[in-house]
Amino acid sequence: MTRLNITILLLLTIGLAAAARKHQKQESRDEEYEATDQCPEKYGFFADAEQCDKYYECNDGQITEKLCPDGMVFNDYSSEYEKCDLPFNIDCTSRPKLQEPQPSQHCPRKHGYFAHEEPHICDKFYYCVDGKYNMITCPNGLVYNDKAGICSWPDEAKKKGCSSEEVFQFECPKVNETVAATHPRYADPDDCQYFYVCINGDTPRRSGCKLGQVFDDVGKKCDWVRNVPECADWYKGRLTDEQLKELENPPTPKPRPTKVSRRKPRPPRPTQVEEEEEK
Ligand SMILES: *[C@@H]1O[C@H](CO)[C@@H](O)[C@H](O)[C@H]1NC(C)=O
Repeated sequence: MTRLNITILLLLTIGLAAAARKHQKQESRDEEYEATDQCPEKYGFFADAEQCDKYYECNDGQITEKLCPDGMVFNDYSSEYEKCDLPFNIDCTSRPKLQEPQPSQHCPRKHGYFAHEEPHICDKFYYCVDGKYNMITCPNGLVYNDKAGICSWPDEAKKKGCSSEEVFQFECPKVNETVAATHPRYADPDDCQYFYVCINGDTPRRSGCKLGQVFDDVGKKCDWVRNVPECADWYKGRLTDEQLKELENPPTPKPRPTKVSRRKPRPPRPTQVEEEEEK
């Protein structure tokens, strides 16, 4: 807490110093030196007091004003690093101003994650880098969450026109409190592989069984398709009996020589949250 207060005080000082510096530039060099002397530390990077994407570099006490790329904001976690990030994990509430946006097609700013323009298209969003977009589709059952910049459950994203009911067109049956507390599950009437979990009995979340399995509405769990008569034909035409058998009894993998993986780590978003049930 104390540390935070100090930080805020320092930020205010910088903001004032910068304002003073601008003002005094027209005046004497000596006075400018006085103003730049206001660097909170001789070296480091410090956030502007009002504008989240503006910051200052202090180099031997010399202050220089800097700006993050459009759409990014200054990461003020440490004054040692010059770092601009997407705004999702950075608190800009005390310095809410931003530079003038430089929009392009599907990108309200040059960098960032942005919701689809059509308010009722819930599961698609744009990832913009330097004003160029990529459209990303959320995993099944999830919608784009504008506040977090990731895909999440509709009831968490709380986007207008994208509520659980609107996205799923499924309403949780009314149940008493005892049943509600168990987060009851119901088969998806249109897709044997999927089911709904009704959080607290009233908020549906669509969830899927793994390939080869279907939701057994009697046992309320995922099971291999051969065990669920109502869905016996669900994988017909998509998977052969042999493939189904192999999914159920995967061949034991041969021990492989250890080798360093060459695959690049996947980027952290969109979050893949698809519950899978195993038997
Ligand atoms: C709640 O509903 C279930 C199933 O309909 C029933 O078995 C149970 O007795 C009910 N409990 C209460 C407290 O009403």
